[in-house]
Amino acid sequence: MAAPMTIGYLNGEFADLTSLRIPVLDRGFLFGDAVYEVIPVYEGRPFRSEFHYQRLQRSLAQIHMEPVLDREQWGSLLRELIARNGSGSMAVYMQISRGAENTRNHLIPKGLTPTVFAMTAALKSRSPEVLERGLQVITRDDTRWGRCDIKSTSLLANILLYSEAHEQHAQECLLHRDGQLTEGSSSSVFVVKKGRVYAPPYGPEILPGTTRDLVAELCEANGTPVREGPIDMTELAEADEIWIASATRELLPVTRVDGHPVGDGHPGPLWRAIDARFQDYKQESAND
Ligand code: PDD
Repeated sequence: MAAPMTIGYLNGEFADLTSLRIPVLDRGFLFGDAVYEVIPVYEGRPFRSEFHYQRLQRSLAQIHMEPVLDREQWGSLLRELIARNGSGSMAVYMQISRGAENTRNHLIPKGLTPTVFAMTAALKSRSPEVLERGLQVITRDDTRWGRCDIKSTSLLANILLYSEAHEQHAQECLLHRDGQLTEGSSSSVFVVKKGRVYAPPYGPEILPGTTRDLVAELCEANGTPVREGPIDMTELAEADEIWIASATRELLPVTRVDGHPVGDGHPGPLWRAIDARFQDYKQESAND
């Protein structure tokens, strides 16, 4: 049996997660001055790790931080953390903050030593019920900041929106700005209409999703390429299928939006086709 997932990493040290400590003046703690990644791991192997590495580098650059880990350090940190946590399937959470100063300061200080933290969490397998019935979602105004392309740990708006969805017995909250769909509170979104797959355009309003990019590759291979462009919220009512995608949830069908059925109210055929490709891809990457 896999060892319990309790070994974390902090600034070069691996130790029991609950024993790791950061200084109270860490800017990640004070300001949310930090970025993060969530990397799925299947049977001990990080999935699409290079894409997470690249997005982390991009997030750091966008908040004016130097690269913190080179590829080799990234790879060996992941490998060791995964091994110490039993080498099974899990999600690695990695966070890099700007570090701790000796005071609270709005100005970005120079020369701080970044805080690098990582841990693992259980990767919940998708329940047969969700695959059979699909997800319910609510829609809300996108109350987040204007740089959602940065994978920042400042997630207050996201957690409020996600929690509101749960209070409404829904499993995700789809967001909109000026009447246009952006993304989920913790996922990317796709809309299918008449056999065509649409996704909101990349820009400052949404996170470039690693899972979305893989789904785009799989859609291309399926002969149903993803078309990027603005999606008006009124189009959701006419959609045949809606999907959400994330590193921890993979690709899931949405079958109810604000209580109304999507298409015939069941997971759609195109979702089944692309999800089957997704599962094959996962299997292949576990074997290579
Ligand atoms: N979140 N958009 C938002 C706002 C997200 O929080 C996420 C994922 C995504 C999908 O990105 P990816 O496919 O690379 O996971 C899109 C992660 C899983 C999280 O915060 O836990």
